[in-house]
Amino acid sequence: MKKVGVAILGLGVVGGGTYKILTEHREDYKRNHKVDIVVESVLERRRERAAELGIDESKICSNIAEICSNPEVDIVVEVMGGVEPAKTFVLAALNAGKSVVTSNKELFCKYSHELEKAARKNHCGLFYEASCVGGVPVIRTLLDNLQGNRITSMIGIINGTTNYILTKMSSEGASYDEVLKEAQRLGYAEANPSADVEGYDATYKLSILSSLAFHTKIPYTNIYREGISGISVTDINYGKRLGYAIKLLAIGKNGDNGIEVRVHPAFIRASHPLASVNDSYNAVYITGDSVEDVMLYGRGAGALPTGSAIVGDIIYCATHSSFQYSPFENTEKAARSTKFIENFESAYYIRLDVIDKAGVLAKVSSIFSKCGISVAQMVQEDIPVLPKSENSTVPLIFITHNTKEHSIRKAEQDINALNGVASVASIIRVVN
Ligand code: HSE
Repeated sequence: MKKVGVAILGLGVVGGGTYKILTEHREDYKRNHKVDIVVESVLERRRERAAELGIDESKICSNIAEICSNPEVDIVVEVMGGVEPAKTFVLAALNAGKSVVTSNKELFCKYSHELEKAARKNHCGLFYEASCVGGVPVIRTLLDNLQGNRITSMIGIINGTTNYILTKMSSEGASYDEVLKEAQRLGYAEANPSADVEGYDATYKLSILSSLAFHTKIPYTNIYREGISGISVTDINYGKRLGYAIKLLAIGKNGDNGIEVRVHPAFIRASHPLASVNDSYNAVYITGDSVEDVMLYGRGAGALPTGSAIVGDIIYCATHSSFQYSPFENTEKAARSTKFIENFESAYYIRLDVIDKAGVLAKVSSIFSKCGISVAQMVQEDIPVLPKSENSTVPLIFITHNTKEHSIRKAEQDINALNGVASVASIIRVVN
């Protein structure tokens, strides 16, 4: 039987999960795939971690060179995260003729052009299913199953930490700061949570997924990004009453006028399948011209879900003799011919604080009209503040029809210049 040796770089949560799956299912792979997948070595400084997983001392390596020069290692699994030293290690493995399986979205997003060049040169496989949306098989779906389509749109909830935070804020009415602390306590959010809550993590994933979906390199630097730290329970509650759920969405669209790629919080209709993706679950909703709508749903993180994606790649690599690379020209920057739409169109939720007196609505309407903004829905909340003073404000909420982003920003400026008569409390994009 063909034997395939694996080295795992890093025995953190995902490395541990991968080791567990590989060892527990070894006999299944032998029976089902006629291949014996053996963990030959691990790169891990913490010997006690290796011992905890039941890994023999003899398999622990202290440097990448040992792994690269080991003829028993065919596949190197990189689950360290971050750019360095992961990049140096992955390049060393590829240049030593080892195929690589990685879960590292930041590394793959920023340097896939370099990694792929080394993989092609050395006739090695380079697999990255686990880099996006954990256990949800979206990469291979895009790479293989949906190739018959022109994909026009992809909307994803691709960060579990922010989905957990927004779900809790919505269901329990707890503030952003409270829920963030709880997410940190549960180990969802890092001590420095900015990669998740400010949308960087989702941006890296969207860069990888939209490049595959739209067959052209979409660098993460071309993606509009906004995080969830400005979202308040007040807006979530108004949104709910209007029939919307709040999500951090990663949106990619490929239309006749170009490509738009953005990560930001948005209200989505409660009837949309993505609205019921809650807690730390992830989902990607893809629309292709032939297949129509497809939604992939599942765990976007965690030891075993991410390990599942890694082991799927290992088995694929172990059972294929030729490898597939990006089905587009994988360069560092976007191709000159790629047109990005920055002034994209969306519907908007706008909450104003207005002085409750005659003529204020007319002033706001006149600004909307000047900016070409058409209102689809309006709600004025009468808050009984007693005694009501001359300057007490009430919330005034609008949902607009589709409007250009720049028009909304101009209206925001003009409303804020109304000398205290009205001011913009929040603006949230709406996906219908
Ligand atoms: N930090 C990520 C998330 C996990 O919260 O979704 C894996 O990418």
